[in-house]
Amino acid sequence: MDKIKIINLKKRFDEGRWISDELSLDIPTGKTMCIIGQSGEGKSVLLKQVIGLIQPSSGSILVDGIDIVPLKGVAREENFKKFGYVFQFAALLDSLSVFENVGIVDLENGVDPEAVRKRVAEKLSLVNLKEDTIDKYPSELSGGMKKRVGLARTLMGNPEIILYDEPTTGLDPITSGVVHELIADMQKKLPITSVVISHDVEIFKYVDKVALLYHGKIVSVTDAATIWESKDPFIYQFIRGLTEGPIHQEIPDDKNKM
Ligand SMILES: Nc1ncnc2c1ncn2[C@@H]1O[C@H](COP(=O)(O)OP(=O)(O)O)[C@@H](O)[C@H]1O
Ligand SMILES: [Mg+2]
Repeated sequence: MDKIKIINLKKRFDEGRWISDELSLDIPTGKTMCIIGQSGEGKSVLLKQVIGLIQPSSGSILVDGIDIVPLKGVAREENFKKFGYVFQFAALLDSLSVFENVGIVDLENGVDPEAVRKRVAEKLSLVNLKEDTIDKYPSELSGGMKKRVGLARTLMGNPEIILYDEPTTGLDPITSGVVHELIADMQKKLPITSVVISHDVEIFKYVDKVALLYHGKIVSVTDAATIWESKDPFIYQFIRGLTEGPIHQEIPDDKNKM
């Protein structure tokens, strides 16, 4: 069963180019799908359509078998709540403790602080942080620990699907390694489906499938475990960063792809 099924999705802004152009992709339940593609291809726009932040021009996005494209109001919010969205592992607020950073939504909604503290402690343990981390401040944490805390905050919403948008961009290799291991570890410990947008070829060791977005379409889907043996010309070129091949560097500008 597919947790998410994207069918013939089309999206453009105003009269611009088609950012999604008859795009179809199946994301299997309980697996991790990585989406790769050049900058500006529309990977983030694709994720935002899946969670309902950007309305597609046409096509369907089935989440648990229900097309979310026509949903409005409460039904749209219910879909949104299934997702945890991790954008470059958003920064922590330096003036707040780990407890306050992770529990911020519940605390602002007036949930009993003792109950919040219990849930925060649970999530910190899930991301392998020691108990005493809860009362520390971001300045007392290593880069990798901050990433763990950021993920714990996402887990507070009990997401069924976690979307990571370029979680290692700008990080040093060791912190990137921590993030990759965390993504894989969450997949093992929780009944979730994950989608990771990444340019980091190290990610292939931690995911199940890799889909390549090019000019608005998913042009290849391959098993991550054997990706370096793949003869698919798009994948072959992209993961090696070759200039020769079916992928052209420039993305058509808004004028010549009406
Ligand atoms: N809200 C928006 N309004 C208009 N254009 C947008 C909007 N969001 C993204 N775009 C355009 O869509 C294209 C794809 O963007 P994006 O999905 O961010 O690419 P990436 O693959 O790097 O994540 C870019 O040309 C970007 O300028
Ligand atoms: Mg992006």
